[in-house]
Amino acid sequence: MKKEIKLVPFKMADFPQVILLLKQLWPNKKINNRNLSKTIKEQLKDPKKYLILMIKDKDKTIGLITVSSRLTWEFEGNLGSIDEFVIDKKYQNLGIGTQVIQKTMKICKKQRMKGIYLISAFHRKEAHCFYEKNGFKKGSYQFEQAL
Ligand SMILES: CC(C)(COP(=O)(O)OP(=O)(O)OC[C@H]1O[C@@H](n2cnc3c(N)ncnc32)[C@H](O)[C@@H]1OP(=O)(O)O)[C@@H](O)C(=O)NCCC(=O)NCCS
Repeated sequence: MKKEIKLVPFKMADFPQVILLLKQLWPNKKINNRNLSKTIKEQLKDPKKYLILMIKDKDKTIGLITVSSRLTWEFEGNLGSIDEFVIDKKYQNLGIGTQVIQKTMKICKKQRMKGIYLISAFHRKEAHCFYEKNGFKKGSYQFEQAL
């Protein structure tokens, strides 16, 4: 039976769950809680630009998704970027991610975004499969360096 999930705006009280989920998403990254919490607090001041949603099964947090948006020339309007997306390991592959991405795209459309994209590391083969099943097209390489 399909699990009915809810997308609920993030509150600072969710921070410990966020950390647990991010450890699953980035197992090799050393997360600096103070810097991350400062970043999130900045984002909360600008809710039009930053969407931070906790995925709940009743009261239990089982994942999160974040979207930021910016004006682009190419889209002649706002383009959304899915920055973080993770479903707790125990709940993966049950159709929950699909519900989340569909609901999130609806919200983005409502907020008049003209498109949505995401960056996904080469090794995340299952995730790539997931995005393609949900209508995303593989398009480009990303080049980056830390400053
Ligand atoms: C990618 C992710 C968000 C998808 O959420 P989900 O709830 O597992 O996805 P769904 O159950 O709706 O979709 C299942 C499809 O996704 C893929 N998939 C998701 N998890 C998978 C897994 N553990 N093993 C194999 N395929 C998987 C498959 O293509 C599957 O389709 P199928 O059932 O027809 O084989 C989730 O698996 C996840 O959090 N993965 C780890 C973190 C991650 O990679 N995040 C994305 C960063 S860009």
